[in-house]
Amino acid sequence: MRLKDLCLGLALITLGAQAHAAEGAALAKAQGIPYPAVIAHRGASHDAPESTAPAYQLARDLGADYLELDLQRSRDGVLVVVHDDDLRRTSDVAERFPERQASPVSAFTLAELKSLDAGSWFNRAYPERARAAFAGLRILTLDEVLDIAEANPARTPGLYIETKVPAQFPGIEQDLHKALDQRGWLDRPGRVVLQSFDRDSLALLHKAMPQVPKVLLLWLGKDHVEPAPGPSFADSGAADKAAFYARQQPKDRAEFERWLDHARAAGAIGTGPSAALAGGGEQSYADLVQPWMNRMSHDKGLLVHVYTVDEPVDFKRVSEAGVDGIFTNRTGALLRFHGRPVVKDEATLLGENGW
Ligand code: G3P
Ligand code: CA
Repeated sequence: MRLKDLCLGLALITLGAQAHAAEGAALAKAQGIPYPAVIAHRGASHDAPESTAPAYQLARDLGADYLELDLQRSRDGVLVVVHDDDLRRTSDVAERFPERQASPVSAFTLAELKSLDAGSWFNRAYPERARAAFAGLRILTLDEVLDIAEANPARTPGLYIETKVPAQFPGIEQDLHKALDQRGWLDRPGRVVLQSFDRDSLALLHKAMPQVPKVLLLWLGKDHVEPAPGPSFADSGAADKAAFYARQQPKDRAEFERWLDHARAAGAIGTGPSAALAGGGEQSYADLVQPWMNRMSHDKGLLVHVYTVDEPVDFKRVSEAGVDGIFTNRTGALLRFHGRPVVKDEATLLGENGW
């Protein structure tokens, strides 16, 4: 190929990428959503125990656009913030309530949930990031996360709320509407974004809060985007789960498109797809942010917010592929990647908040 043709080809690719980014920026602006969005996944959960006060305070003070949270409901009807279906990984439930340790979050009253230690597990799992003050951290209610989001006048993140296992919590969509409305959080577009893997829950959220932007989370697998034919991971004999999923593709383009249409039908303004990560690991799944997928999403008027990406090599790859926002456990690293100023480092901010 002649140099002139090569230069022309590169220029066309650059122009295409710029046009694609401009489309994403325009779609985000129309919804009041920052572009590219920095979404603090369970708070700054690399640096502090996920979904706890220090994780959300740190993400807020670093300058995240959104605090991400997984919403569940206690047995006595209080909205609480917990990711897993049960409490074993992120609390001392096995010692406190041994006979109920595998029970779902919904089996515990708020007082019981508040009696658990939601911080010491982090100190054991990540001794290099442990802090004595993390021991004894409490599970948060939705109201408490709203308090944290409102508490720093110089840094005012929005909330990015996922209805988790919503089939276990009939009516949680209306409960959420009531809670946000009472606190005045539905005052402007894009302050809250709602998300779910569950299309029915998303449709209920849309019914309860038609003006609030919604995102359908995408996943390659059973009852979700159908993979191309082949053995499951369990049947494949593969040893590395991340490498196995990185090779997986949707059945065909029409299948991926079908899920974008599902998203639109449920009232979503965007999708939240998984990504394959350069270093593999537990957060690496099927790559549903390939450039053609992101172009197809934009063509249908849908934003793309990818989960969950923590390393600069992956920030760069998914950004160049055309995503409009990133869920990350490392808010500071993503802000730095985007050239957005972080006034103080993570350790300083944790210290200033008393951790
Ligand atoms: O909500 C986006 C991402 O958080 C989805 O995965 O399992 O971390 O809630 P998960
Ligand atoms: Ca989530």
